[in-house]
Amino acid sequence: MGIFEWSEKYSVNIKEIDNQHKKLIGMVGQLNSAMRQGKGKDALGKILADLIQYCRTHFADEERIMKAGGYPDYEAHKAKHKWMTDRVAEIFREYQEGRATITLEVMKFLENWVDQHIMGTDKQYAPFLNAKGIS
Ligand SMILES: [Fe+2]
Ligand SMILES: [Fe+2]
Repeated sequence: MGIFEWSEKYSVNIKEIDNQHKKLIGMVGQLNSAMRQGKGKDALGKILADLIQYCRTHFADEERIMKAGGYPDYEAHKAKHKWMTDRVAEIFREYQEGRATITLEVMKFLENWVDQHIMGTDKQYAPFLNAKGIS
């Protein structure tokens, strides 16, 4: 993957969600550039904490929209969100405790997860919810 940035290929045709995905991808990018610039622990920790908080907000909103639309794969999708929330919280904890640093490998993990989750999992609800008039 080259530079991780929003593009139309990520669109799920639901404005609120597209906007949240744009913000999420932007925050991952912010963490990546802070890491590359060699920003200190506090600065990186702050961005990571904000990213986790935003993930929680986004996942909750997305789950609310899926549930309201009666999306049949809601539970499985929610479980994927929980897995990622736990995983990122673990990275954050290790980081705060000084047992891990934000490396290229961590960034690749985050970028790949977001890319694959939007393309493979979020994209699946798009036609179902769009057909219900949710856009
Ligand atoms: Fe999702
Ligand atoms: Fe999403």
